[in-house]
Amino acid sequence: MEKSKYRIVLAFSLLTNLSGGAMMAGCSGSSANLASLSSETLLDNSSVIITDDPYDESGKSEKRTMDLRQVDESGQRRESDSEIEELPSVVHESLDSETLPVNETTSSSSASETTSSPVSENKEGRTYVNGVLIVNKKHPVPADYAPGVDPEAQAALNNLLDAMQSQSLNVSRDTSNYRSYQTQTALYNGYVNAPGQQQADTFSARPGFSEHQTGLAFDLKDTAGQLLTSPTEAQWLLDHAAEYGFIVRYQAGKESITGYQAEPWHLRYLGELAKDVAASGLTLEEYLGVEGGDYQ
Ligand code: DAL
Ligand code: ZN
Repeated sequence: MEKSKYRIVLAFSLLTNLSGGAMMAGCSGSSANLASLSSETLLDNSSVIITDDPYDESGKSEKRTMDLRQVDESGQRRESDSEIEELPSVVHESLDSETLPVNETTSSSSASETTSSPVSENKEGRTYVNGVLIVNKKHPVPADYAPGVDPEAQAALNNLLDAMQSQSLNVSRDTSNYRSYQTQTALYNGYVNAPGQQQADTFSARPGFSEHQTGLAFDLKDTAGQLLTSPTEAQWLLDHAAEYGFIVRYQAGKESITGYQAEPWHLRYLGELAKDVAASGLTLEEYLGVEGGDYQ
C-alpha cells in the first residue's frame, strides 16, 4: 500500500501516579502546571517519552510513554518500523479526569434535528446551533465556563463502557473527561513548549477551545491506560457509540473541518442526535452547517 494511506498515531500510556504528584499537591494554579510541564525525549522512530509530567488540578502526576502505531484506512495496524513515514508529527494528550463534581448543566441531548437553516444562538459567550453546544477552533467557550462533567453524558458513557466490557473489548472505566480552562492552558502550553505550537495545534486545543471544557467529551483508554487506538475497539466505537449518544468527534479524512488529527478515542455526547450525525457520515460541523477548520 502507499505510504499516504497510513497515519501515524501516538498513543500515550498513562503509566504512573507518582510521588511528584504528592510533591505538587496543593499547587492547583496553572503557573505550577506550567512550571512542571513536559519536555519530550525522542527515543526512536516508535516511541517518545515525556520526561516531566504535567499535573492536573488535583495535583496528580502523570508520566506518559507514547508508542507510535500505524493504522491504515481499513483500521489495520502496521508493524514494520521501516514503513513509518517520519518521526512523530502527531502527539495526543491524556489527562486524568478532574475531580470536580458532576454538574446539573443542560446537555445537548435535546438538540433539535438538522434543518436547512440552522438556528445559531449565543448564550453567555457559548455558541449553540440547533441547541447543540459547538466548540471548535472557530467557536470557543468563555474561560469561566466550568460546568464539570455532564451527568447525563457520564451516565450514557457508563452504559457504553458496560457494553464494551461485556463484549470483552479492551477499555478502561478510567476516562479523561472534563478539563477546566486552566488545565487546558497548562496542557496546551506544555505542548507548545515541545513539540511546538504548530504541531500542538493539530492535536491539542488552545484554552477555551476544547470540547473537554464542556463536560460532554470523554477520551477512552485501554486497560493499560493508553488512549484507545486499537482497530477493533476504534471500529466498535464508530459502529456503536451513537447507540449510546456519542459520536467519534475527530475522524481521519476530516482534519480540515474538525481542525484536529484523528482521535479514535475522543467521544462527544450528543444524546439522540448522535445517531443521525453518525449515520450521515458527516462531521458535527458539516451536519449542523457551522464553520470549522483553523483558528481565525
Ligand atoms: N485533543 C482535543 C482536540 C482537545 O484538546 O480538546
Ligand atoms: Zn479528547
